[in-house]
Amino acid sequence: MRSIRVRTARVEQRVSEQNVGETMDRVIIRAMQVSDYEKVYALWQTISGFGLRSIDDSKEGIEKFIKRNPTTSVVAVYQNEIVGSVLCGHDGRTGYLYHVCVKKEMRRHGIGKDMVVRAMRQLSEEGINKVALLAFRDNKGGNAFWHQVGWKEREDINYYDFVLNAENITAFNAGEE
Ligand SMILES: CC(C)(COP(=O)(O)OP(=O)(O)OC[C@H]1O[C@@H](n2cnc3c(N)ncnc32)[C@H](O)[C@@H]1OP(=O)(O)O)[C@@H](O)C(=O)NCCC(=O)NCCS
Repeated sequence: MRSIRVRTARVEQRVSEQNVGETMDRVIIRAMQVSDYEKVYALWQTISGFGLRSIDDSKEGIEKFIKRNPTTSVVAVYQNEIVGSVLCGHDGRTGYLYHVCVKKEMRRHGIGKDMVVRAMRQLSEEGINKVALLAFRDNKGGNAFWHQVGWKEREDINYYDFVLNAENITAFNAGEE
C-alpha cells in the first residue's frame, strides 16, 4: 500500500490554501452526510461480524439518525472512496458510537482513532460529557482497539435491552476478524 496520511477536512483545507506541495495520498476525515449512505452501507457489508439492522440501518433509518445528530457521525475518505465510518449521536446526556469500522486493507494507519477522536470532539462541542459503546466480547481486534485508544471497559455493569419492534431484524455479516 502507498503511504497515507490522515488529516481532518479543516487541516486539509489549510494545507491546500498554503499551497504546500504533497506527494503522499491523504485520508480526509469529515462529517458523514446522508448522501454517503450507499457507500457507507457497502463498507459495512464487508466488515466481518457486523450486525446490520433491517430498519435502523436502512437509508431511512440512517437519515433519521443523521437529521437528529447532524455533526457527529464521521467518514474517512481515501482516493474518493469511503474507507472508514463511525455513527455517532447523543440523547442530550450521553454520546454513543455505533458501527465503527475501517476497510480491512486500510487498518492500523490511525484512521479508526482519528475518526473516533473527531466524533468525541464534536460531542464535547455539543456539551456532552460522556460517550459509550457496545463491543461483542469475542471481537478481539475491536476490544484491543478500544483499550489502546484509552477507553475503559466496564465490568461492573449488566447491559439490558428490550425489543420494541420485532420487524427490526439484525443480520450478522459472516466471518471473523
Ligand atoms: C477496530 C478498527 C475500527 C480499528 O481501526 P484502525 O484504523 O485499524 O485503528 P487505528 O490504526 O486507529 O489504531 C489505533 C490504535 O489501536 C491499535 N489497534 C488497532 N487495531 C488493533 C488490533 N486489531 N489489535 C491490537 N491493537 C489494535 C493500534 O495499534 C493503534 O495503537 P497505537 O495508537 O499505539 O498505534 C478496525 O480494526 C475495524 O474496522 N475492525 C472491524 C470492525 C470492528 O471491530 N469495530 C469495532 C466494533 S466495537
